[in-house]
Amino acid sequence: MTISQQISIAAKHIKEGNLVAFPTETVYGLGADALNPYAVAKLFELKERPTFDPLIVHIASVEEIKRLTVNNDNRVYELAERFWPGPLTIILPKSNLVPDIVTAGLPTVGIRMPDHPVAIELIRQSGCPIAAPSANKFGQLSPTQAKHVNKQLSDVDFLIDGGESAVGIESTIISLNEKGFEILRHGIITKEEIEEIIPYYAVPDRDKTNIVSPGMLKSHYSPNKPIYLLDKNIPDFIDYPKAGLLSFSGKDTAKYKIVELLAPDGNLKTCAVNLFAAIHRLEESDVDYIIAETVPEVGVGIAIMDKLKKAAYRYK
Ligand code: TXA
Ligand code: MG
Repeated sequence: MTISQQISIAAKHIKEGNLVAFPTETVYGLGADALNPYAVAKLFELKERPTFDPLIVHIASVEEIKRLTVNNDNRVYELAERFWPGPLTIILPKSNLVPDIVTAGLPTVGIRMPDHPVAIELIRQSGCPIAAPSANKFGQLSPTQAKHVNKQLSDVDFLIDGGESAVGIESTIISLNEKGFEILRHGIITKEEIEEIIPYYAVPDRDKTNIVSPGMLKSHYSPNKPIYLLDKNIPDFIDYPKAGLLSFSGKDTAKYKIVELLAPDGNLKTCAVNLFAAIHRLEESDVDYIIAETVPEVGVGIAIMDKLKKAAYRYK
């Protein structure tokens, strides 16, 4: 089936309130008509996602901001101009059009315009914004290829195979306040890049128990094999010839059974692109556990370390 045939079948499914997995530049998404609460309810069910965790709404035109939000903040358009289509999600006050189930009852909604021709065409042909979390079961490894989606969500109504995601990790999520922006989830678009448009400003004294972004759990992105960070806390029971290594530096690799070299060019962005696909391969291989070399926590390294720490959290 050609990609355009896949898109038109998928759009029919979205219009009928069914679920479609589709490619974006970050990771594959599991999509539903964002304005149809029944379709969105099915989405939470298939993903086994707790309903306290809100969804990102994907749009194909900046005009949609007017319908979906009560925004009158011009900074949003400056950000859209610079970063959309692209891996930036902006949290904004929601309009009444957005069903509460999409935002998990929050007064705000996360919006993003994906930089992928298939995703954009799907949204256009469906005639509605598309609510989509990453197309994995809740808490598990994110999908950057169609076959990764099949591993976890084989019973989705339709899956569009659009090849491999170019960015490889989820969008950067920001919220706006009177003085600037805050980062709720790190991604490939860094704080420094956003600061070229508006200042960074973390609201002081925010009640940290009042969770800003419910999905920012400590454990996430977990493969079904134990994963440990290669730092001073590495357990001493590790039998290296039975382990797979996620290597950034390419150093000290000889003792491992399998080595996944994440960035042959030494670039952290390349590392992000390959990260989830490499963990999927190790998950499917015969190694007993996965060891992840740490990367410098600067720029995109912040997002990479965030994923690795969350993946390793439950094995600490
Ligand atoms: O790159 C991405 O963002 C991918 C692709 C498919 O677009 N989507 C994605 O969605 O990563 P998901 O559901 O896996 O992660 C969305 C995160 C959640 O952790 C959620 O808590 C947060 O966004 N979020 C969504 N709406 C929010 C809101 N109104 N306020 C705060 N956080 C929000
Ligand atoms: Mg996710």
